[in-house]
Amino acid sequence: MVIIRRFRTRYWKVSPFAPDPAAIRQAASIVAGGGVVAFPTETVYGLGADTLNPLAVGKIFTAKGRPVDNPLIVHVAELRQVWDIVLDFPAAARLLAANFWPGPLTLVLPKRSTVPDAVTGGLDTVAVRMPRHRVALDLIKKSGCSIAAPSANLSGKPSPTTARHVLRDLYGRVDGIIDGGPAVVGLESTVLDLTGPKPLILRPGGVTREQLEREIGPVDVETQGEREGAKLAPRSPGMKYRHYSPEGNVILIHGERGRVVSRICELAAEWNGRGQRVAVLCSRETYSLYSKGTCSYDYLENIGSQYNLDDVARNLYGALHTCDQKEIDIILIEVFPATGLGAAIMNRLQKAAGSIMEII
Ligand code: TXA
Ligand code: MG
Repeated sequence: MVIIRRFRTRYWKVSPFAPDPAAIRQAASIVAGGGVVAFPTETVYGLGADTLNPLAVGKIFTAKGRPVDNPLIVHVAELRQVWDIVLDFPAAARLLAANFWPGPLTLVLPKRSTVPDAVTGGLDTVAVRMPRHRVALDLIKKSGCSIAAPSANLSGKPSPTTARHVLRDLYGRVDGIIDGGPAVVGLESTVLDLTGPKPLILRPGGVTREQLEREIGPVDVETQGEREGAKLAPRSPGMKYRHYSPEGNVILIHGERGRVVSRICELAAEWNGRGQRVAVLCSRETYSLYSKGTCSYDYLENIGSQYNLDDVARNLYGALHTCDQKEIDIILIEVFPATGLGAAIMNRLQKAAGSIMEII
């Protein structure tokens, strides 16, 4: 007989700006005692445990169903905590931390031997960031330890940008969930590897390549194609797994505005005709062109302007979660510009789509 242990999941709703100290204290004592707690950050919700406690860290992998070779990001609240984790904090790291911490930037650095393999997936490097969220920072400080945390979703699912998303995936699988309101960035942090000859973006995110280059000069961007060509293992193990995927199949449509709309409506009619439930995620600029009379879909959402990618980043995962709730089979999404924050948006969309893109 298999016994599945169900957790009693505690839930606290707090102000993102002035969280109730009693709630933070309770959540922190669970983390300090080896439990797992989901908490808000500015990027997405994280599922945290005491970094230096391998048993606690193991619970994260169980709760998420995460492959054990996919390492976690260590979250700190103060710069001095970095030294418990890394062997070296080079000049570039110091400059970037001064400019972007607290914020959506994760630095990969050589790790100290005290960091358990469970956190780093056996690598000799560790990823670290200081989140820009009062609740996350208070929780870390009160716990008295740095907090290792991946996104608080089931492995492979879209990341959670609200506590409701976390509840849906992890209720009964974790010790607690702190609801601190919706995430303001909405996409995960940029992961920057500083251990190679040249800084390398392993995952585009909330801090753009352009912003990094203004501080430290040229930065490379990991592209899976190049890596495969060079027959190298991906340096960020997480990037090899299917990610960010809603239940439905995602199809991206790229091209001139008017033609994109008509092609999406054509595809929507085709899939609808086959009895599939269809969603259209579009921009503010095209929203009014998808009138119900001429286009057949089950769910239409304007995820933001082509000219304000901050909004698109903030709304994207929420829209994918809604597609799951509405049991959508086919999700047709307009392509957004891949510059600035758009690089991160398109990276996630391409992963969700398994690179199915129609260019018209
Ligand atoms: O914004 C974020 O980064 C959120 C919040 C909670 O902080 N966290 C997050 O964690 O997105 P996760 O586990 O979903 O993604 C972490 C990424 C993975 O792609 C992982 O492979 C990579 O960071 N990573 C972690 N440690 C690494 C290391 N030592 N070397 C290379 N990549 C690493
Ligand atoms: Mg994740």
